[in-house]
Amino acid sequence: MKVETIAAVQGDHNLHNYEEVSSDFNWADVEKEFSWSKTGKINMAYETIDRHAESDRKNKVALYYQDQKRHESYTFYEMKRMTNRAANLLKAHSDLEKGDRFFIFMPRSPELYFAMFGALKMGLIVGPLFEAFMEGAIYDRLDDSEAKAIITTPELLPRIPLDRLPNLKTVFLVGENVEEDGKIVDFKKHLHTCSDRFEIEWLDKEDGLVLHYTSGSTGKPKGVLHAQYAMVQQYQTAKWVLDLKEQDVYWCTADPGWVTGTAYGVFAPWLTGTTTVIIGGRFSPDAWYKAIEDFGVTVWYSAPTAFRMLMGAGDALVKEYDLSTLRHVLSVGEPLNPEVVRWGVQVFNKRIHDTWWMTETGAQTICNYPSMDIRPGSMGKPVPGIKVAIVDDRGNELPPNQMGNLAIEKGWPSMMRQIWNNPAKYESYFMNDKWYVSGDSAYMDEDGYFWFQGRVDDVIMTSGERVGPFEVESKLLEHPAVAEAGVIGKPDPVRGEVIKAFVALNEGFEPSEELIQDIQQFVKKGLAAHAAPKEIEFKDKLPKTRSGKIMRRVLKAWELDLPTGDLSTMED
Ligand code: PRX
Repeated sequence: MKVETIAAVQGDHNLHNYEEVSSDFNWADVEKEFSWSKTGKINMAYETIDRHAESDRKNKVALYYQDQKRHESYTFYEMKRMTNRAANLLKAHSDLEKGDRFFIFMPRSPELYFAMFGALKMGLIVGPLFEAFMEGAIYDRLDDSEAKAIITTPELLPRIPLDRLPNLKTVFLVGENVEEDGKIVDFKKHLHTCSDRFEIEWLDKEDGLVLHYTSGSTGKPKGVLHAQYAMVQQYQTAKWVLDLKEQDVYWCTADPGWVTGTAYGVFAPWLTGTTTVIIGGRFSPDAWYKAIEDFGVTVWYSAPTAFRMLMGAGDALVKEYDLSTLRHVLSVGEPLNPEVVRWGVQVFNKRIHDTWWMTETGAQTICNYPSMDIRPGSMGKPVPGIKVAIVDDRGNELPPNQMGNLAIEKGWPSMMRQIWNNPAKYESYFMNDKWYVSGDSAYMDEDGYFWFQGRVDDVIMTSGERVGPFEVESKLLEHPAVAEAGVIGKPDPVRGEVIKAFVALNEGFEPSEELIQDIQQFVKKGLAAHAAPKEIEFKDKLPKTRSGKIMRRVLKAWELDLPTGDLSTMED
């Protein structure tokens, strides 16, 4: 069979020859790009901001920020001053110390980034939260991490159960006329009175950087801790994969509550001193194309669901905007359909470069590079210096074209360093002390391209967001009508998957459209809108193992009209 390929892009790329670079690459050489290679002491905020503020890039724009109300820009020098102020503010109004967990729970705004990098300058571990999270989701994360402080807005504050979080000593509020008390501190009021000079807390390479909570198929969300050293891979992939150069204007559409929004929203581009665009507010095709035109975006990193929505908005719309500045387009988070890649070539005259990685990998891991032919539907090839393989359930490497576990050889620079408070869980990711097992199934073709096949577990990817079925099931069970709940991902042409719940009702409750809506609202209010089941189907009883575990694979088979497979463990 002939494989569809889209030829490499001609031009001068940072990664000029994949094979040659891959055959002889040493991560230790990348360390020399950073000042800490001389001092031994590291700080992400210094490498992303201050270093440039002290160089020829002093007056270069670091951040363009835009939403419906604000349109602002900050040079690297201004970012240095604002983040110093934020660091002084956090220090003066709390007892936060190096290594403490500082959470961010607010919509995108310049203040979010001042606070984030101010906290990093203090040596705090930053925990970003998605703005759509509701009380239950917030509580689990702040409680597990023993967070000491948070920055939020008056609108979101009611979702933080302060009385149940004894460790949470300080709340920085970004709003107007904030009423301060022993716990609440007015962030904006103090920001401009704080000094713009700050002595950075110098850290070790292995000290904590960010704590991202993410979902698995069992248990509550777990805290994935990354170390400062992750910057080595984030920097190098900004070069090779994002192909960033001095004149670029870069836009990553991801929310800072997810790993893409930290690692590639700000860390990777700023490590290379690149001008970065942040757009606040909700997705809209017009606003997105307009942003590319307004800022002259050259490198654009987004996600399959967004591309599919843009596709759905029609090609005529594309012609209303000047998108001629775009030179490199990338995607992450879910499988990128070949159809979308073809659409990209047709309407933007650009290849959309798929990239694969996860919260746990800390940086891009398998990618398509501009200097390499694309095979639409393939995630591409491993980042040079990282060994990726397909292994069986015992950890033996499989030959090309055989489907198995997508695994990465332990020890890549941005590998997660801990699951917060849960060393056993951390260890469970690794096989034979050699392979990190991703939970994805895939195969590699004879030319070394990797092809995603699905999740091995029941994790749901909806609109690129990772949702653990257990978390949704637990919330459903809190609803007075729900006796049993099983949650699966149902394939959807735009969102990848949507969440479908099967529910058995308690005595005295009858299925109805009203009850469906009530249960949906309950999950929306308790967890997050994106975690609420789009579909609910009532059943008298759900398929369970004899030990009482809901058999999601049977639910999925029912849903998709597939054979149910081995039912020997199912209760009678
Ligand atoms: O199943 C894979 C899918 O997203 C999972 C990781 O989710 P998360 O930790 O939220 O990180 C998302 C962005 C870094 C993976 O296990 N995934 C991510 N990228 C791709 C993908 N599936 C297919 N193709 C991709 N390019």
